[in-house]
Amino acid sequence: MFEIVAKKQLSNQIWQLDIHAPLVAAKARPGQFVVVRAHDKGERIPLSISDFDSQAGHITLVVQAIGHSTTDLVSLEVGEKAADLLGPLGTPAEIDNFGTVVCVAGGVATAIIYPEARAFQQAGNKVITLLGARSADLFFYEDELRQCSDEVRYATEDGSRGKQGFVTELLQELIDAGEQIDRVVAIGPVPMMRAVCELTRPYQIKTVVSLNPIMVDGTGMCGACRVEVGGETRFCCTDGPEFDGHLVDFAALQNRSRQYQNLEEKIPHHHSNGGCAGQCQQ
Ligand SMILES: Cc1cc2nc3c(=O)[nH]c(=O)nc-3n(C[C@H](O)[C@H](O)[C@H](O)COP(=O)(O)OP(=O)(O)OC[C@H]3O[C@@H](n4cnc5c(N)ncnc54)[C@H](O)[C@@H]3O)c2cc1C
Ligand code: FES
Repeated sequence: MFEIVAKKQLSNQIWQLDIHAPLVAAKARPGQFVVVRAHDKGERIPLSISDFDSQAGHITLVVQAIGHSTTDLVSLEVGEKAADLLGPLGTPAEIDNFGTVVCVAGGVATAIIYPEARAFQQAGNKVITLLGARSADLFFYEDELRQCSDEVRYATEDGSRGKQGFVTELLQELIDAGEQIDRVVAIGPVPMMRAVCELTRPYQIKTVVSLNPIMVDGTGMCGACRVEVGGETRFCCTDGPEFDGHLVDFAALQNRSRQYQNLEEKIPHHHSNGGCAGQCQQ
């Protein structure tokens, strides 16, 4: 169980791992995630289920190697096994025939939004996908997203593909052009999701975001992932990870996400050149 059956590098920091997890693959729904540990000295990290194949018994994870645990996970080779994997966790995304759904994503979230875009299309929606990145070489999953979108538009900060600027500018263009938008789903860095919500709020376009606070158990018992939504405390791992973006307290989310930043920066990062393969005691 949890054997890596395929591995592909998608961009400089991002890898796709197909993992044998038949029980998870049989139950997974778009919007859900798993909690994974690369090796028995590792920490548990939440990762979205980017795809699932119940026939083959595989799930697909797309992982951005930004710290110790993600680096350890992408260091596993085909034939090696993750120590444990728990899921599917979280409440599935709300999929229905809303009309026109705009999917907004950037970076690793491109893979997270893919199963949702596909499900929205299968439910009969017109799907418009807006992708943002720093530069053209950072896009991936393009064929997959084109297949399940009526239209895909690109924005890059350096102007190397599509519109020069942020993905929010693409959304503003759609609104200005009079596109009837029934729902926006935004997944990506917190500042991006926050900007999308501020943009859609005055137009009263329902906007759903997928939050990514620090998680520990992923099952609603530890309280680590608490977020403020509509003035109430919610647990992202069980009540989410998707919420009505117009009700989310993004300032509180950003503050909580930064609380271990100083400690993380002090840890010597000898993992970063390919991982410690479980030998490190830190
Ligand atoms: C529900 C959920 C789904 C996720 N899905 C994916 C996914 O599909 N692919 C993927 O690559 N990542 C995903 N993440 C983020 C992933 O869990 C973190 O990147 C990972 O835990 C970082 O662990 P690390 O030890 O490698 O890095 P650390 O050393 O812990 O952190 C490195 C840097 O990343 C920041 N960071 C840590 N945790 C998070 C987080 N949860 N969100 C944003 N920044 C963080 C830290 O503040 C620090 O600056 C998801 C997070 C959640 C909550
Ligand atoms: S991660 Fe522990 S309650 Fe959500």
